[in-house]
Amino acid sequence: MGYRGGTFRRERSLAEQLEFDVLVIGSGIAGLYYSLRVADHCRVAIVTKKQAADSATNRAQGGIAAVLSSEDSFDSHIRDTLVAGDGLCNEAVVQHVVERGPTMIEALREFGTEFDLDRTGKSGAPFDLGREGGHTRRRILHHRDATGREIERALLERARAHPNMQLFENHCAVDLLTARKAGLPGGDRILGAYVLDVEVEEIQLFETRVMLLATGGAGKVYLYTTNPDIASGDGMAMAYRAGASLANMEFVQFHPTCLYHPQAKSELISEAMRGEGGILRTNAGDPFMERYHAMKDLAPRDIVARAIDTELKRSGDDSVFLDITHREPDFLRDRFPNIDDTCRRFGIDLTREAIPVVPAAHYYCGGVLTDLHGETDIPNLFAAGEVACTGLHGANRLASNSLLEALVFADAAARETIARLRDVPPVEAKLPLWETGSATDSDDAVVITQNWDEIRRFMWNYVGIVRSNRRLVRAQRRIELMRQEIRNYYWDFRLTPDLVELRNLATVAQLVIESAMKRQESRGLHYNVDYPRRDDAHFRSDTILRA
Ligand code: SIN
Repeated sequence: MGYRGGTFRRERSLAEQLEFDVLVIGSGIAGLYYSLRVADHCRVAIVTKKQAADSATNRAQGGIAAVLSSEDSFDSHIRDTLVAGDGLCNEAVVQHVVERGPTMIEALREFGTEFDLDRTGKSGAPFDLGREGGHTRRRILHHRDATGREIERALLERARAHPNMQLFENHCAVDLLTARKAGLPGGDRILGAYVLDVEVEEIQLFETRVMLLATGGAGKVYLYTTNPDIASGDGMAMAYRAGASLANMEFVQFHPTCLYHPQAKSELISEAMRGEGGILRTNAGDPFMERYHAMKDLAPRDIVARAIDTELKRSGDDSVFLDITHREPDFLRDRFPNIDDTCRRFGIDLTREAIPVVPAAHYYCGGVLTDLHGETDIPNLFAAGEVACTGLHGANRLASNSLLEALVFADAAARETIARLRDVPPVEAKLPLWETGSATDSDDAVVITQNWDEIRRFMWNYVGIVRSNRRLVRAQRRIELMRQEIRNYYWDFRLTPDLVELRNLATVAQLVIESAMKRQESRGLHYNVDYPRRDDAHFRSDTILRA
């Protein structure tokens, strides 16, 4: 038998088969940390669709939140997380993650990550602590304004040197293989993944006993995003197709400050800049955030992004402006060297002029539903990082909580994996290899670009920061048509990474639309003008979708 995304065809086993104890898909903070923890006990493969450092982690600027100052407390971090989450956080998860913070920071440092130290003695901690939206205290550890890059550097260096770890770059996961899909008796469980080796253009079966999905988010579903090109929701879409539950996909976080410039693509201007006193102004110089929230420019992100959206719709301007010119130039160049470089490349001197900014899709608070060990509802399939919905973020993520969440759940998943490996035997049955069938090379690549652009544009316009019933219905009609078209195209032509990503983008778009339609209230990041209020009586629960 051969497998082709849900349909079995006649035997034709050209594809290669590879066997590992543990398979990790994705090479950001969650994937690398987990791999390093389990690799002392078993053989691990990490599959990543571009180069290993092409991850969202690598672009994280702000930092990682943890309670380390004598002026801070777990209670305060918990409270800030719950307030941002607008009634939907799982309180046990919030407490667990916050309390694990200091231990996880120590673990990262043991792997070689360096955080900026406090040279003034004012922070009440050995580290220089930043502040970001929604935090009532300074608690963000950072490495200047490129924290993610430093974490990725340290973990990747260790991973490349580990004798039990094999890194497969330019390998694009296509679909997951479960016992149910393979038609095996007994309960369902993960068995492996079909992976496209981009260089040799062949689909291989990676067989595994345990798997971690660490594929990150899906910012590319939207026209404007702070995310790297890899963020096409692959893990969310594959898990959904495999039968896992996804939760809270309507809660897409728009970062308030992405650089606005015709030639700039996905250039984030860190919230840490507002933490150091940056003020949002209209084109006319009006500091408008004081009209929207008592915390002004450091209000939770959903509030700041909506305020900018309102100001832009009111004025018709292309952008608002982030002004930090009142701080010392030397301080700014030292604290934000990368943002300074980026601005200069586009002819902006942030020490003398305000930076034009707009909101852009940044982070999915929802994802593949996991328990406290990071396990999904498919046995032995774990998920950590942005791909997962752990219950920490609720309806809106508190800034810089995501790297912490990724670490805590990667660590929990690693412990559970190590304990469980003894009891998970290798698969005895012969598993179906991928069947290419009669698929030919496409001579019409424009179909992919056309669909890709169309999805991103209507998601931005109809399912963005402000939603309405009419817009959601329009988006739903379009995505149904498009998914049909993509399905037909998918089976007729040989798979390329672009086609794999397009199918996943369309699946994630459909999940966001469906979840947004189910939530008939406004809460956190989901704002629908037809239901402008929060409705605790009917909607204080997760939106769960399952194929
Ligand atoms: C930022 O630096 O503004 C991003 C931090 C985050 O998204 O948590």
